[in-house]
Amino acid sequence: MGSVNQTPRVIPSTQTPYFTPANNGGEALDPTDPNTPTLFRPLKIRDVTLKNRVVVSPMCMYSAESDLSSPLVGALTDYHIAHLGQFALKGAGLVFVEAQAVQPNGRISPNDAGLWDHSPDSEQFKSLQRVVQFCHSQGAKVAVQLAHAGRKASVLPPWVAVQAKKPNVKADESTGGFPSDVVGPSGGADEAWDGTGEGYWAPRALTVEEIQELVQAFAKSAETAVRAGVDVIEIHGAHGYLINQFLSPVTNKRTDAYGGSFENRTRLLREVLTAIRAVIPSGTPLWLRISATEWLDGQAVAAESGTWNVESSLQLLPLLPELGVDLLDVSSGGNHRTQKINIHTNYHIDLAAQLRKAIHATGTKTLVGAVGFITEADQARGLVEGADEAHAANATVSGPEPVADVVLMARQFMREPEWVMNAAKKLGAKVEVPVQFWRAGLV
Ligand SMILES: Cc1cc2nc3c(=O)[nH]c(=O)nc-3n(C[C@H](O)[C@H](O)[C@H](O)COP(=O)(O)O)c2cc1C
Repeated sequence: MGSVNQTPRVIPSTQTPYFTPANNGGEALDPTDPNTPTLFRPLKIRDVTLKNRVVVSPMCMYSAESDLSSPLVGALTDYHIAHLGQFALKGAGLVFVEAQAVQPNGRISPNDAGLWDHSPDSEQFKSLQRVVQFCHSQGAKVAVQLAHAGRKASVLPPWVAVQAKKPNVKADESTGGFPSDVVGPSGGADEAWDGTGEGYWAPRALTVEEIQELVQAFAKSAETAVRAGVDVIEIHGAHGYLINQFLSPVTNKRTDAYGGSFENRTRLLREVLTAIRAVIPSGTPLWLRISATEWLDGQAVAAESGTWNVESSLQLLPLLPELGVDLLDVSSGGNHRTQKINIHTNYHIDLAAQLRKAIHATGTKTLVGAVGFITEADQARGLVEGADEAHAANATVSGPEPVADVVLMARQFMREPEWVMNAAKKLGAKVEVPVQFWRAGLV
């Protein structure tokens, strides 16, 4: 709660090349106050401290230039400054830039954001740097999610499908698509299925040489992101995109070192993480989003080929510390049309709780992010309450075990960009308000 008595209070931000007051909305005025919920206590991961545990989850906006011959292709724009900037201004601890493709054929839609142009003069670099500078001026940290869509690439943005009353519309060359360059772990028309009958483009199986290029592409994008000032790197290993396609025996039919056994199916992921850790500073946190299960247990396809399920994720957990992963962002599904999900408010959160418990049981320290249907302040507080060590040490009454160390939220932030301010008010947490907004009585 900013007070006009604390003069001089308005300090210009050093993060931007123009004047703007340095803000820190959503930061607890006294994080050590026992009444400050864990949700509003800082979280230090390596050298990066998030001022609170509220994270804006990655959200593709399909709003970048699609023309590969344009210098603007894949670059963020003023739209992203407005979209992501509002969350930074209004107090989120960490703001995710949407999934950014590490190679042009890794774009879900031709209008996806990308980070494959590493020149400091490139629009991809400069536009990311601009988003970072603005978010930093508001006291938020910034994460990028590095991604490759694999066999699910080259479709038009979802609103095109909505308008066409179709579940999915493929992008051909006339709409900026790249049907002949869609790749996956396995190739051919048999791999073009989706959940709807519309289908994707038939992918081409990546060669081992191309896999090595892909690994380097992830590493280079991570390096570029760090140069642009990004604080946290996340690898997108979920939702049926390329890394997930490799992890699952349903989509990975390879017979070489990248297919078959658990060890082989996780090889691409392990190589990507190792390559990234080798090029980013040791102080930069590395996060991994996975689909903890593809929800195929009991389905015919799983009986036929096996599946990636919770047991597989549990098997992955002990590998994460040595791969330099600091936080596991627990999502699920998206890899197969016959997934059977009993959707309810806690269906993702329960997975996060289960994996966090397993991590703690083995004495490892990987943090966990919960995502999915988090909308309410009380709910978010309950998920992370007690997750900070200081809080846990001082607790006189032991409460329920925390489900996660951070909460990630997507759709609620679109509905309510000032969610952090509203949550602070509801929970009685005393937090900073951006100085320009003091007159609005936000908290
Ligand atoms: C518009 C939109 C775009 C999304 N884009 C991404 C993305 O780029 N990467 C990703 O991992 N998840 C993406 N998601 C999933 C969200 O990050 C989140 O996991 C999911 O929406 C569940 O959280 P929620 O209930 O708070 O919305 C997207 C969701 C929405 C609604």
